[in-house]
Amino acid sequence: MARVKDSVNIGVLGCGNVGAALINLVEDRAEDIEARTGLHLEVTRVAVRSLSKEREVSLPAKAFTTDVEDVVEDPGVDVVVEVMGGIEPARELILRALESGKAVVTANKELLANHAVELFAASDGAGVDLLFEAAVAGGIPLIRPLRESLVGEDVSRVMGIVNGTTNYILTKMTEEGWSYSEALAEAQSLGYAERDPTADVEGFDAGAKAAIISTIAFGQKVVAGDVSHEGISGITPTDIDFARRLGYQIKLLALCDRLEDGSLAVRVHPTMVPDHHPLASVRDSFNAVFVEGDAVGDLMFFGRGAGGFPTASAVLGDVVDAAANLAKATHGSLGSFAKARVRPIDDLSYRYYINLEVVDRPGVLASVAGLFGEHGVSIRSMEQQALDREEADGTAARLIFITHEAREADVRATLAELRGLDSVTAVGSVLRVIGAS
Ligand SMILES: NC(=O)c1ccc[n+]([C@@H]2O[C@H](COP(=O)([O-])OP(=O)(O)OC[C@H]3O[C@@H](n4cnc5c(N)ncnc54)[C@H](OP(=O)(O)O)[C@@H]3O)[C@@H](O)[C@H]2O)c1
Repeated sequence: MARVKDSVNIGVLGCGNVGAALINLVEDRAEDIEARTGLHLEVTRVAVRSLSKEREVSLPAKAFTTDVEDVVEDPGVDVVVEVMGGIEPARELILRALESGKAVVTANKELLANHAVELFAASDGAGVDLLFEAAVAGGIPLIRPLRESLVGEDVSRVMGIVNGTTNYILTKMTEEGWSYSEALAEAQSLGYAERDPTADVEGFDAGAKAAIISTIAFGQKVVAGDVSHEGISGITPTDIDFARRLGYQIKLLALCDRLEDGSLAVRVHPTMVPDHHPLASVRDSFNAVFVEGDAVGDLMFFGRGAGGFPTASAVLGDVVDAAANLAKATHGSLGSFAKARVRPIDDLSYRYYINLEVVDRPGVLASVAGLFGEHGVSIRSMEQQALDREEADGTAARLIFITHEAREADVRATLAELRGLDSVTAVGSVLRVIGAS
């Protein structure tokens, strides 16, 4: 049974970008929060790896420890905030904190995308909150709207731009005409991209968020390994240019759908989004999530998906919620989650953009088009562009196809055979197209 109290002590695991911002935000906002809720919040313990690192927070040195046990075992701590990242020891520490009756707030998408349901069960078992608004789309309220405001809604689709780094890179490629590597280098110099950008640019980060979103939106257990993901490192200025001429923007989207038979389709890939779609106008490092519900229609949530303070803002909202529940000796149940049936991407259908380089000689177009036809992939439009290059047996040309809706498996089979043709010198980007233009 949780303790009933109005004075709430917070123990923080980690004092990096998010942890330090949270400590400052608690200090700035504590008086207002107390006036509005009657709860007095105070950060009393902070675990870090190094005590010698300089930190821009005004807490006494004795609040810091390198022993994570000091935070989760401290009987004076009521709410544990986990902002250290990684799976272990974060998972183990959260379970221990919950078992000892402490509410937990975490921003850890990697952990939740792999162990959410185990952690939810521990929270319900212990009768204390586990809240994680900041784990998806940073400062943008999304988890609480999905769990609470939309609980009576039949949500069929949640899709969005949930990685700011890749959105920044694609925006610069579109608006400045930069190459992928130029845009990545700028993102790294601004601190938007890590030195090893793989998690962002190859879609792992967005995939983890898609797993969490699907679990919450559809009430079924989806883990990171269920999500098929492709990144943006293969996108070229040519793709951006063609997309723009055809009336589209290229965006890295996380797409989470509940299909008619109750199975789910959850995937992350670069997508051609029509210019008129609200997600097409989301620029720079901003995030936005589009929700389609049966009764409510379309909703969009927009804002800063990362950064210390935006993320800490979401964490603090959860801390206040958890503290209010502790004061009332209650908690928000997360419910039970059956394993989702996640449809393989091969079974899904889209319209496709396909970029090929070929030798420009008689008969080539017919043989390429013939292969599409053999696999039942119908061509909607085709554009040919001469390339400033000679091949051994002719000049080079680029062919850009837009298909009608086709099954992914049939498109993949077509591409495999196209790669085997002598006349096809390169198969470039293959992008899924959503919406009509
Ligand atoms: N940054 C964002 O914009 C953002 C947005 C959404 C979600 N998140 C999530 O928030 C979490 C934190 O991110 P961040 O950017 O704040 O990370 P960060 O800057 O790398 O900070 C991590 C902090 O945890 C401490 N730490 C790590 N392992 C520890 C251990 N074993 N024992 C004690 N302390 C340990 C580090 O201590 P030292 O300082 O001593 O090294 C550091 O203070 C991650 O799960 C991340 O995915 C971040």
